[in-house]
Amino acid sequence: MSAEGVSEVAGASDRFLRACRREPVDLTPVWFMRQAGRYLPEYRAARADRDVLQMSRIPEMAVEITLQPVRRLGVDAAILYSDIMVPLAATGVEVRMAPGLGPVIDEPIRAPSDLSRLRPLDPDSDIPFVLEAVRMLRRDLTVPLIGFAGGPYTLASYLVEGRPARDHPRTRALMHGDPAVWEGLLDRLAGTVLALLRAQVAAGAQAVQLFDSWVGDLDPGDYERFVLPWVSRIFEELAPLGVPRIHFGVGTGELLALMRAAGADVVGVDWRVPLDRAWDRVGRDAAVQGNLDPAVCLAPWDAVERKALEVLRRADGRPGHVFNLGHGVFPQTPPETLERLVDLVHSRTAR
Ligand code: CP3
Repeated sequence: MSAEGVSEVAGASDRFLRACRREPVDLTPVWFMRQAGRYLPEYRAARADRDVLQMSRIPEMAVEITLQPVRRLGVDAAILYSDIMVPLAATGVEVRMAPGLGPVIDEPIRAPSDLSRLRPLDPDSDIPFVLEAVRMLRRDLTVPLIGFAGGPYTLASYLVEGRPARDHPRTRALMHGDPAVWEGLLDRLAGTVLALLRAQVAAGAQAVQLFDSWVGDLDPGDYERFVLPWVSRIFEELAPLGVPRIHFGVGTGELLALMRAAGADVVGVDWRVPLDRAWDRVGRDAAVQGNLDPAVCLAPWDAVERKALEVLRRADGRPGHVFNLGHGVFPQTPPETLERLVDLVHSRTAR
Protein backbone atom coordinates (compact mmCIF):
# COMPACT_ATOMS: atom_id res chain seq x y z
CA MET A 1 0.00 0.00 0.00
CA SER A 2 1.24 3.52 -0.73
CA ALA A 3 2.16 5.88 2.05
CA GLU A 4 -0.94 7.85 1.17
CA GLY A 5 -3.09 4.75 1.42
CA VAL A 6 -1.76 4.08 4.89
CA SER A 7 -2.55 7.55 6.12
CA GLU A 8 -6.06 7.25 4.72
CA VAL A 9 -6.91 4.44 7.08
CA ALA A 10 -5.10 5.97 10.02
CA GLY A 11 -2.77 4.74 12.70
CA ALA A 12 -2.43 4.98 16.46
CA SER A 13 -2.55 8.77 16.40
CA ASP A 14 -6.00 9.11 14.90
CA ARG A 15 -7.84 5.79 14.82
CA PHE A 16 -9.94 6.82 17.83
CA LEU A 17 -11.12 10.08 16.23
CA ARG A 18 -11.72 8.34 12.91
CA ALA A 19 -13.84 5.64 14.57
CA CYS A 20 -15.88 8.34 16.33
CA ARG A 21 -16.65 9.73 12.87
CA ARG A 22 -17.35 6.25 11.46
CA GLU A 23 -14.42 6.47 9.06
CA PRO A 24 -12.32 3.41 8.15
CA VAL A 25 -9.57 2.52 10.62
CA ASP A 26 -6.52 0.23 10.55
CA LEU A 27 -7.80 -1.53 13.70
CA THR A 28 -10.42 -0.96 16.39
CA PRO A 29 -9.38 1.75 18.86
CA VAL A 30 -9.51 1.04 22.60
CA TRP A 31 -9.56 3.13 25.74
CA PHE A 32 -11.02 2.49 29.18
CA MET A 33 -13.22 4.65 31.35
CA ARG A 34 -11.33 5.30 34.61
CA GLN A 35 -8.11 4.17 32.95
CA ALA A 36 -6.30 6.71 35.14
CA GLY A 37 -6.86 5.42 38.63
CA ARG A 38 -6.29 3.23 41.61
CA TYR A 39 -5.73 -0.09 39.82
CA LEU A 40 -2.34 1.33 38.75
CA PRO A 41 0.43 1.16 41.38
CA GLU A 42 2.05 4.23 39.80
CA TYR A 43 -1.22 6.13 40.36
CA ARG A 44 -1.41 5.14 44.02
CA ALA A 45 2.24 6.18 44.48
CA ALA A 46 1.74 9.57 42.78
CA ARG A 47 -1.48 10.34 44.63
CA ALA A 48 -0.19 9.40 48.09
CA ASP A 49 -2.83 10.71 50.54
CA ARG A 50 -4.35 13.40 48.31
CA ASP A 51 -7.80 12.98 46.78
CA VAL A 52 -8.80 13.49 43.17
CA LEU A 53 -10.06 17.05 43.78
CA GLN A 54 -6.72 18.10 45.27
CA MET A 55 -4.76 16.26 42.57
CA SER A 56 -6.77 17.90 39.79
CA ARG A 57 -5.63 21.34 40.95
CA ILE A 58 -1.96 20.48 40.23
CA PRO A 59 -1.51 20.48 36.43
CA GLU A 60 1.77 18.53 36.56
CA MET A 61 0.01 15.80 38.54
CA ALA A 62 -3.02 15.71 36.25
CA VAL A 63 -0.65 15.42 33.27
CA GLU A 64 1.41 12.62 34.79
CA ILE A 65 -1.65 10.58 35.79
CA THR A 66 -3.34 11.08 32.43
CA LEU A 67 -0.20 9.74 30.74
CA GLN A 68 0.26 6.69 33.00
CA PRO A 69 -2.28 4.38 31.30
CA VAL A 70 -1.24 5.60 27.84
CA ARG A 71 2.33 4.53 28.56
CA ARG A 72 1.51 1.26 30.21
CA LEU A 73 -1.46 -0.02 28.23
CA GLY A 74 -0.97 1.42 24.75
CA VAL A 75 -4.56 2.72 24.61
CA ASP A 76 -5.66 4.80 21.61
CA ALA A 77 -6.94 7.80 23.56
CA ALA A 78 -6.12 9.63 26.77
CA ILE A 79 -8.81 10.96 29.09
CA LEU A 80 -8.01 14.00 31.14
CA TYR A 81 -7.50 13.15 34.80
CA SER A 82 -10.01 15.25 36.70
CA ASP A 83 -13.46 14.59 38.18
CA ILE A 84 -17.03 15.53 37.35
CA MET A 85 -17.23 17.42 40.67
CA VAL A 86 -14.25 19.71 39.88
CA PRO A 87 -16.29 22.51 38.20
CA LEU A 88 -18.83 22.48 41.05
CA ALA A 89 -16.12 22.64 43.70
CA ALA A 90 -14.53 25.50 41.73
CA THR A 91 -17.75 27.53 41.77
CA GLY A 92 -18.34 27.47 45.50
CA VAL A 93 -20.07 24.15 46.21
CA GLU A 94 -18.45 22.55 49.25
CA VAL A 95 -17.57 19.05 48.04
CA ARG A 96 -15.31 16.56 49.74
CA MET A 97 -14.24 13.11 48.56
CA ALA A 98 -15.06 10.56 51.25
CA PRO A 99 -12.54 7.70 50.94
CA GLY A 100 -14.12 4.61 49.37
CA LEU A 101 -17.47 6.41 49.00
CA GLY A 102 -17.14 9.35 46.64
CA PRO A 103 -18.33 12.96 46.53
CA VAL A 104 -20.10 14.28 49.64
CA ILE A 105 -21.90 17.66 49.85
CA ASP A 106 -22.83 18.47 53.42
CA GLU A 107 -25.36 21.11 52.38
CA PRO A 108 -27.36 19.59 49.51
CA ILE A 109 -29.33 21.63 46.98
CA ARG A 110 -33.05 21.04 47.52
CA ALA A 111 -34.92 24.34 47.96
CA PRO A 112 -35.39 27.31 45.62
CA SER A 113 -33.10 29.41 47.83
CA ASP A 114 -30.28 26.83 47.40
CA LEU A 115 -30.00 27.56 43.67
CA SER A 116 -28.19 30.83 44.24
CA ARG A 117 -25.26 28.79 45.61
CA LEU A 118 -24.59 27.59 42.04
CA ARG A 119 -22.84 30.46 40.33
CA PRO A 120 -21.78 30.33 36.67
CA LEU A 121 -18.38 28.84 35.81
CA ASP A 122 -15.74 31.19 34.46
CA PRO A 123 -13.18 28.66 33.23
CA ASP A 124 -10.20 31.03 32.97
CA SER A 125 -10.46 32.16 36.56
CA ASP A 126 -12.18 29.17 38.22
CA ILE A 127 -10.33 26.22 36.68
CA PRO A 128 -7.09 27.53 35.12
CA PHE A 129 -5.36 24.33 36.33
CA VAL A 130 -7.64 22.16 34.14
CA LEU A 131 -6.92 24.23 31.06
CA GLU A 132 -3.20 24.28 31.79
CA ALA A 133 -3.19 20.46 32.11
CA VAL A 134 -4.97 20.15 28.75
CA ARG A 135 -2.44 22.45 27.05
CA MET A 136 0.50 20.58 28.58
CA LEU A 137 -0.96 17.21 27.58
CA ARG A 138 -1.36 18.24 23.97
CA ARG A 139 2.38 18.91 23.87
CA ASP A 140 3.21 15.42 25.25
CA LEU A 141 0.56 13.12 23.79
CA THR A 142 0.72 11.14 20.57
CA VAL A 143 -2.89 9.91 20.93
CA PRO A 144 -6.01 12.13 21.08
CA LEU A 145 -7.09 13.73 24.34
CA ILE A 146 -10.68 13.35 25.55
CA GLY A 147 -12.13 16.11 27.70
CA PHE A 148 -15.22 15.43 29.79
CA ALA A 149 -17.95 16.71 32.06
CA GLY A 150 -20.62 15.14 34.21
CA GLY A 151 -24.08 15.09 32.69
CA PRO A 152 -26.74 17.34 34.21
CA TYR A 153 -28.76 14.50 35.78
CA THR A 154 -25.68 12.90 37.32
CA LEU A 155 -24.36 16.19 38.71
CA ALA A 156 -27.84 16.99 40.05
CA SER A 157 -27.98 13.59 41.76
CA TYR A 158 -24.87 14.38 43.84
CA LEU A 159 -26.07 17.91 44.63
CA VAL A 160 -29.55 16.78 45.69
CA GLU A 161 -28.67 13.56 47.54
CA GLY A 162 -25.58 15.08 49.15
CA ARG A 163 -23.68 11.82 48.72
CA PRO A 164 -23.47 8.75 46.49
CA ALA A 165 -26.87 7.04 46.91
CA ARG A 166 -28.46 3.97 45.41
CA ASP A 167 -31.19 4.87 42.85
CA HIS A 168 -31.19 8.57 43.84
CA PRO A 169 -34.77 8.75 45.22
CA ARG A 170 -34.57 12.36 46.45
CA THR A 171 -33.39 13.49 43.03
CA ARG A 172 -36.45 12.13 41.28
CA ALA A 173 -38.73 13.25 44.11
CA LEU A 174 -37.47 16.81 43.57
CA MET A 175 -37.81 16.50 39.79
CA HIS A 176 -41.47 15.52 40.06
CA GLY A 177 -42.33 17.45 43.21
CA ASP A 178 -40.80 20.80 42.33
CA PRO A 179 -40.22 21.02 38.58
CA ALA A 180 -39.38 24.73 38.81
CA VAL A 181 -36.43 24.06 41.12
CA TRP A 182 -35.39 21.13 38.93
CA GLU A 183 -35.44 23.29 35.81
CA GLY A 184 -33.49 26.03 37.57
CA LEU A 185 -30.96 23.47 38.71
CA LEU A 186 -30.53 21.93 35.26
CA ASP A 187 -30.30 25.37 33.62
CA ARG A 188 -27.38 26.20 35.88
CA LEU A 189 -25.69 22.82 35.47
CA ALA A 190 -26.04 22.87 31.69
CA GLY A 191 -24.40 26.31 31.66
CA THR A 192 -21.50 25.05 33.74
CA VAL A 193 -21.05 21.91 31.62
CA LEU A 194 -21.06 23.92 28.40
CA ALA A 195 -18.55 26.45 29.68
CA LEU A 196 -16.29 23.64 30.88
CA LEU A 197 -16.40 21.61 27.66
CA ARG A 198 -15.95 24.66 25.44
CA ALA A 199 -12.92 25.72 27.45
CA GLN A 200 -11.42 22.22 27.34
CA VAL A 201 -11.82 22.12 23.55
CA ALA A 202 -10.37 25.63 23.18
CA ALA A 203 -7.37 24.47 25.24
CA GLY A 204 -6.87 21.44 22.98
CA ALA A 205 -9.23 18.56 23.88
CA GLN A 206 -9.96 16.64 20.66
CA ALA A 207 -13.19 14.89 21.74
CA VAL A 208 -15.57 15.29 24.67
CA GLN A 209 -17.52 12.78 26.71
CA LEU A 210 -20.60 13.65 28.72
CA PHE A 211 -20.74 11.22 31.66
CA ASP A 212 -24.44 11.14 32.53
CA SER A 213 -23.69 7.93 34.40
CA TRP A 214 -26.84 7.65 36.51
CA VAL A 215 -29.44 8.69 33.93
CA GLY A 216 -30.52 5.06 33.60
CA ASP A 217 -32.60 5.78 36.73
CA LEU A 218 -35.24 7.34 34.48
CA ASP A 219 -37.99 5.98 32.27
CA PRO A 220 -37.98 7.34 28.70
CA GLY A 221 -40.85 9.78 29.30
CA ASP A 222 -39.18 11.38 32.30
CA TYR A 223 -35.85 11.44 30.45
CA GLU A 224 -37.50 13.30 27.57
CA ARG A 225 -39.14 15.83 29.82
CA PHE A 226 -36.59 16.35 32.59
CA VAL A 227 -33.15 15.76 31.03
CA LEU A 228 -33.15 15.64 27.24
CA PRO A 229 -33.78 19.40 26.65
CA TRP A 230 -30.66 20.35 28.60
CA VAL A 231 -28.46 17.65 27.09
CA SER A 232 -29.67 18.62 23.60
CA ARG A 233 -28.72 22.22 24.30
CA ILE A 234 -25.24 21.16 25.42
CA PHE A 235 -24.61 19.02 22.34
CA GLU A 236 -26.15 21.56 19.95
CA GLU A 237 -23.92 24.34 21.21
CA LEU A 238 -20.84 22.10 21.01
CA ALA A 239 -21.56 21.07 17.40
CA PRO A 240 -19.78 24.05 15.78
CA LEU A 241 -16.55 23.10 17.58
CA GLY A 242 -16.31 20.05 15.32
CA VAL A 243 -15.03 17.56 17.92
CA PRO A 244 -16.74 14.17 18.43
CA ARG A 245 -19.30 14.25 21.23
CA ILE A 246 -19.63 11.03 23.25
CA HIS A 247 -22.64 10.45 25.50
CA PHE A 248 -22.45 7.79 28.21
CA GLY A 249 -24.71 6.42 30.91
CA VAL A 250 -25.24 3.18 32.83
CA GLY A 251 -28.43 1.11 32.65
CA THR A 252 -29.61 3.05 29.59
CA GLY A 253 -31.06 0.16 27.54
CA GLU A 254 -34.39 1.94 27.12
CA LEU A 255 -32.81 5.38 26.62
CA LEU A 256 -30.24 4.68 23.89
CA ALA A 257 -32.28 6.10 21.01
CA LEU A 258 -33.05 9.25 23.00
CA MET A 259 -29.38 9.67 23.95
CA ARG A 260 -28.50 9.62 20.29
CA ALA A 261 -31.39 11.99 19.51
CA ALA A 262 -29.92 14.41 22.03
CA GLY A 263 -27.20 15.01 19.46
CA ALA A 264 -24.29 12.73 20.36
CA ASP A 265 -21.95 11.43 17.65
CA VAL A 266 -20.99 8.40 19.75
CA VAL A 267 -23.22 6.65 22.29
CA GLY A 268 -21.51 4.80 25.14
CA VAL A 269 -23.21 1.51 25.98
CA ASP A 270 -22.98 -0.39 29.26
CA TRP A 271 -22.62 -4.19 29.33
CA ARG A 272 -26.29 -5.00 29.93
CA VAL A 273 -27.33 -4.61 26.29
CA PRO A 274 -25.59 -6.75 23.64
CA LEU A 275 -23.63 -4.36 21.43
CA ASP A 276 -25.40 -5.20 18.15
CA ARG A 277 -28.80 -4.69 19.77
CA ALA A 278 -27.60 -1.43 21.32
CA TRP A 279 -26.37 -0.29 17.92
CA ASP A 280 -29.79 -1.03 16.39
CA ARG A 281 -31.36 1.19 19.05
CA VAL A 282 -28.80 3.98 18.66
CA GLY A 283 -29.10 3.83 14.87
CA ARG A 284 -26.48 2.73 12.39
CA ASP A 285 -25.74 6.37 11.49
CA ALA A 286 -24.01 6.89 14.86
CA ALA A 287 -20.88 5.39 16.40
CA VAL A 288 -20.96 3.25 19.56
CA GLN A 289 -18.51 2.82 22.41
CA GLY A 290 -18.32 -0.20 24.68
CA ASN A 291 -19.15 -2.55 26.15
CA LEU A 292 -17.22 -5.27 28.02
CA ASP A 293 -18.45 -5.81 31.58
CA PRO A 294 -15.67 -4.32 33.77
CA ALA A 295 -16.26 -7.12 36.31
CA VAL A 296 -15.10 -9.64 33.71
CA CYS A 297 -11.64 -8.05 33.97
CA LEU A 298 -11.44 -9.46 37.51
CA ALA A 299 -11.81 -13.02 36.15
CA PRO A 300 -9.08 -15.24 34.65
CA TRP A 301 -7.81 -14.28 31.20
CA ASP A 302 -9.72 -16.92 29.22
CA ALA A 303 -13.01 -15.41 30.43
CA VAL A 304 -11.84 -11.91 29.51
CA GLU A 305 -10.83 -13.11 26.08
CA ARG A 306 -14.10 -14.92 25.46
CA LYS A 307 -16.25 -11.95 26.47
CA ALA A 308 -14.10 -9.40 24.62
CA LEU A 309 -14.30 -11.47 21.43
CA GLU A 310 -18.06 -11.57 21.82
CA VAL A 311 -18.11 -7.75 21.85
CA LEU A 312 -15.97 -7.70 18.69
CA ARG A 313 -18.19 -10.28 17.02
CA ARG A 314 -21.26 -8.15 17.73
CA ALA A 315 -19.49 -5.04 16.38
CA ASP A 316 -18.77 -7.14 13.27
CA GLY A 317 -16.06 -4.86 11.88
CA ARG A 318 -18.53 -2.10 11.09
CA PRO A 319 -17.01 1.39 11.04
CA GLY A 320 -17.79 3.37 14.17
CA HIS A 321 -16.90 1.05 17.06
CA VAL A 322 -14.70 2.30 19.88
CA PHE A 323 -13.85 -0.58 22.22
CA ASN A 324 -14.26 0.25 25.91
CA LEU A 325 -15.65 -1.24 29.08
CA GLY A 326 -19.33 -0.84 29.88
CA HIS A 327 -18.35 1.32 32.89
CA GLY A 328 -15.18 2.28 34.73
CA VAL A 329 -12.22 0.03 35.60
CA PHE A 330 -12.58 -1.48 39.08
CA PRO A 331 -9.68 -0.64 41.45
CA GLN A 332 -9.00 -4.40 41.93
CA THR A 333 -8.34 -4.94 38.21
CA PRO A 334 -4.90 -6.42 37.41
CA PRO A 335 -3.17 -3.93 35.08
CA GLU A 336 -1.82 -6.89 33.05
CA THR A 337 -5.38 -7.86 32.12
CA LEU A 338 -5.97 -4.46 30.53
CA GLU A 339 -2.59 -4.61 28.77
CA ARG A 340 -3.54 -7.97 27.25
CA LEU A 341 -7.00 -6.70 26.39
CA VAL A 342 -5.61 -3.79 24.35
CA ASP A 343 -3.36 -6.22 22.46
CA LEU A 344 -6.22 -8.65 21.91
CA VAL A 345 -8.55 -6.03 20.43
CA HIS A 346 -5.79 -4.62 18.24
CA SER A 347 -4.57 -7.99 16.94
CA ARG A 348 -8.06 -9.40 16.29
CA THR A 349 -9.29 -6.34 14.42
CA ALA A 350 -6.27 -5.49 12.25
CA ARG A 351 -7.73 -4.96 8.76
O1 CP3 B 1 -9.46 7.82 33.89
C1 CP3 B 1 -10.47 8.50 33.86
O2 CP3 B 1 -11.59 8.04 33.53
C2 CP3 B 1 -10.35 9.99 34.10
C3 CP3 B 1 -10.63 10.46 35.40
C4 CP3 B 1 -12.02 10.45 36.02
C5 CP3 B 1 -12.22 10.40 37.42
N1 CP3 B 1 -13.55 10.55 37.67
C6 CP3 B 1 -11.15 10.28 38.43
C7 CP3 B 1 -11.49 9.74 39.76
C8 CP3 B 1 -13.28 10.55 35.42
C9 CP3 B 1 -13.65 10.57 33.95
C10 CP3 B 1 -14.24 10.62 36.48
C11 CP3 B 1 -15.68 10.79 36.24
C12 CP3 B 1 -16.62 10.55 37.36
N2 CP3 B 1 -16.49 10.92 38.67
C13 CP3 B 1 -17.91 10.00 37.20
C14 CP3 B 1 -18.50 9.54 35.89
C15 CP3 B 1 -17.93 8.24 35.47
C16 CP3 B 1 -18.45 7.06 36.22
O3 CP3 B 1 -17.65 6.36 36.82
O4 CP3 B 1 -19.67 6.84 36.17
C17 CP3 B 1 -18.53 9.97 38.45
C18 CP3 B 1 -19.91 9.43 38.77
C19 CP3 B 1 -17.63 10.58 39.38
C20 CP3 B 1 -17.85 10.84 40.82
C21 CP3 B 1 -16.85 10.14 41.65
N3 CP3 B 1 -15.52 10.50 41.76
C22 CP3 B 1 -17.06 8.97 42.44
C23 CP3 B 1 -18.38 8.25 42.58
C24 CP3 B 1 -15.83 8.67 43.04
C25 CP3 B 1 -15.52 7.59 44.01
C26 CP3 B 1 -15.37 6.30 43.31
C27 CP3 B 1 -14.55 5.32 44.07
O5 CP3 B 1 -14.51 4.18 43.59
O6 CP3 B 1 -13.96 5.66 45.11
C28 CP3 B 1 -14.86 9.62 42.58
C29 CP3 B 1 -13.42 9.67 42.91
C30 CP3 B 1 -12.49 9.45 41.76
N4 CP3 B 1 -12.52 10.13 40.58
C31 CP3 B 1 -11.39 8.53 41.69
C32 CP3 B 1 -10.75 8.72 40.44
C33 CP3 B 1 -9.53 8.05 39.91
C34 CP3 B 1 -10.99 7.51 42.75
C35 CP3 B 1 -10.57 8.04 44.05
C36 CP3 B 1 -9.27 8.82 44.10
O7 CP3 B 1 -8.26 8.43 43.52
O8 CP3 B 1 -9.26 9.84 44.81
